[in-house]
Amino acid sequence: PETGSLSIIVLGASGDLAKKKTFPALFNLYRQGFLPPDEVHIFGYARSKISDDDLRNRIRGYLVNDTSPLEDVSKFLQLIKYVSGSYDAAEGFQLLDKEIEKHEISKSSREGSSRRLFYLALPPSVYPSVCRMIRKYCMNKSDLGGWTRIVVEKPFGKDLDSAEQLSSQIGELFDEPQIYRIDHYLGKELVQNLLVLRFANRFFLPLWNRDNIDNVQIVFREDFGTEGRGGYFDEYGIIRDIIQNHLLQVLCLVAMEKPVSLKPEHIRDEKVKVLQSVLPIKDEEVVLGQYEGYRNDPTVPDHSNTPTFATVILRIHNERWEGVPFILKAGKALNSRKAEIRVQFKDVPGDIFKCQKQGRNEFVIRLQPSEAMYMKLTVKQPGLEMSTVQSELDLSYRQRYQGVTIPEAYERLILDTIRGDQQHFVRRDELKAAWEIFTPLLHRIDNGEMKPIPYQTGSRGPAEADELSAKAGFYKKPKK
Ligand code: BG6
Repeated sequence: PETGSLSIIVLGASGDLAKKKTFPALFNLYRQGFLPPDEVHIFGYARSKISDDDLRNRIRGYLVNDTSPLEDVSKFLQLIKYVSGSYDAAEGFQLLDKEIEKHEISKSSREGSSRRLFYLALPPSVYPSVCRMIRKYCMNKSDLGGWTRIVVEKPFGKDLDSAEQLSSQIGELFDEPQIYRIDHYLGKELVQNLLVLRFANRFFLPLWNRDNIDNVQIVFREDFGTEGRGGYFDEYGIIRDIIQNHLLQVLCLVAMEKPVSLKPEHIRDEKVKVLQSVLPIKDEEVVLGQYEGYRNDPTVPDHSNTPTFATVILRIHNERWEGVPFILKAGKALNSRKAEIRVQFKDVPGDIFKCQKQGRNEFVIRLQPSEAMYMKLTVKQPGLEMSTVQSELDLSYRQRYQGVTIPEAYERLILDTIRGDQQHFVRRDELKAAWEIFTPLLHRIDNGEMKPIPYQTGSRGPAEADELSAKAGFYKKPKK
């Protein structure tokens, strides 16, 4: 591994993302020894004129929990320094650069390079100016080598044109290997497991195609609404917030062909091919919803047309998937919190057991909560009669891997950025292809040509969505 000083600069240090995700992830990495105090310094940068201790106090509450001793929290907080400045003026960034250099010199007793990681926990509107400032004032200047990398969060634009514009602006300042576009779903344990599952198991190789699979459903549900994020959410809606990125990334990993190797470029090449094979979305294969009460949020306009729920069917035009619907479904303020992939297999031809009413063979990968994989299959009902019943082969992570802590997505991804591994980050052409799929639909929603159906908070979402899934072939066992 590389040595030398490592500066991690969190821009937007007092914002929600930084407090809730970035700093806690850094703290976890620190506790596991990935951020050695003799190499690492962490800088918070934001506009407000506060002191180091003010920032530390704001973060502290998000780090303390049952498993983190207060002593560790205090030691970690001591690594954090605060620099205040605006996002578009030289002064603040010049000051930031000085502070980073000071730290680099203080650590220069160790031989090695200087590494600078800029984490933009900021709205995308300021990405171009911040990137310009970093490029101009804050790049790594060490003779001993090292690097400067930037990490950006979604939303990367609002549609194809704005995303491409943003990409070009950043692309003029940084090369692709320096840019880490985070989609935190790619850091989830069971999402990372998908490639292993598909390509390291003989079981799945011959079955994973249109001859055997009837439909694939990728679902995200949350049992709470937009909660204080109404202003942001209303501008984006559920398709931009969840489907165009998180669920689509999962779809890529489920549907892609085997990469030539595990090299990040090889994997991302295959993902792009899947995205480019997706057919245009048909209006009749979309159901939008909005939970009742969404507009009560004072930051949401009274007549908002923004969907908080959507079911969208994607069809992949290639040899493996022709005719297999990929049902993507996401919603806020529903009856449960869950993210899962359900692969439903076709019925057994010439069924002699008349077991089809009991349900199909189904392979379920539950991303959260309680990571699990289970396979629904038909077995003989134990006993004297020759009757059948549907049962499960179940791999529940909590039981099987007792005592193993599954890392948080952000923790893993930040470590990747330090190590320079871009496998789990979104490449520019991938992003473009993802926007190409959803932009026409998004424009129709933005123009008010498609309207969300109201649904009750705490429900399954609009009944029309279940009807659409059923029509596409998704089998749901009738409740007894
Ligand atoms: C974020 C969305 O990207 O993902 C949020 O902006 C959503 O709206 C969150 O709540 C869900 O992430 P997770 O990891 O809790 O499923």
